[in-house]
Amino acid sequence: MRIGFVGYGSMARALGSRWVADHAVSISGRSRQKAQALAEAIGASHCEPSELVQVADVIVLATRHEVAIDAIDLIGGADALAGKTLLDINNPVSHNRNDFLPRTYDGKSLSEVIADCAPQAHVVKAFNMCQATVWGMEPPVFDGRTLVTLYCGDDLGAKRQAATLIEDLGSAPFDLGELHYARLLEAAAAIVIKLLASGRDPHTVLNLIEPEVKPVA
Ligand SMILES: NC(=O)c1ccc[n+]([C@@H]2O[C@H](COP(=O)([O-])OP(=O)(O)OC[C@H]3O[C@@H](n4cnc5c(N)ncnc54)[C@H](OP(=O)(O)O)[C@@H]3O)[C@@H](O)[C@H]2O)c1
Repeated sequence: MRIGFVGYGSMARALGSRWVADHAVSISGRSRQKAQALAEAIGASHCEPSELVQVADVIVLATRHEVAIDAIDLIGGADALAGKTLLDINNPVSHNRNDFLPRTYDGKSLSEVIADCAPQAHVVKAFNMCQATVWGMEPPVFDGRTLVTLYCGDDLGAKRQAATLIEDLGSAPFDLGELHYARLLEAAAAIVIKLLASGRDPHTVLNLIEPEVKPVA
């Protein structure tokens, strides 16, 4: 896959450094120097934000959540993203408040707002429920159990790509359903963030222990 990151922070570093083994990874953002520095550190390429859609089919929105919509403009706007898979990893939870409730947008998730802003892109919510450190684990296994990564979206092809990228990290993908289930994923991540903020280890996760469906007796 050709994967492009907008943003070069903790998540771009953690995910990009893993995916670069199997995919063509490009880093971009508002600072060319910072994009280049991360790209060189993890063995990826870097480019101007306006060039990202030319070198990537899967684009990861990896800026601060408050500027996720600005990030779409930075890489050329909604039209430039037509047909692209847009991975939304953002958690609209403020770290400097004490309530840790996720922000909602008239009841919608940030993922749905992103989809409204880029209607021809295929938005998938994924990778938001674990701290960046967890994505660096090879493999992410907890108490002997593989981490299950929940994801959701409306486009099957984009979801297949997300599932492959989850498997590439050594995690087990679990399709939660349509994109509006991002409301639950953003809320679930807020639980994790609250736990981390109270001093828990960065490797704290909510894991699905038995994801397979058993026949009802
Ligand atoms: N960190 C985690 O453990 C974690 C886990 C799950 C999900 N997430 C989510 O993933 C997203 C990225 O988190 P992160 O920890 O990787 O962030 P980070 O390390 O704080 O990096 C933030 C990135 O956003 C960019 N940025 C900030 N303001 C911008 C603007 N106005 N326009 C363009 N770019 C801007 C920064 O660029 P500059 O350096 O140039 O400001 C930087 O590349 C967040 O939404 C977060 O909720 C994070």
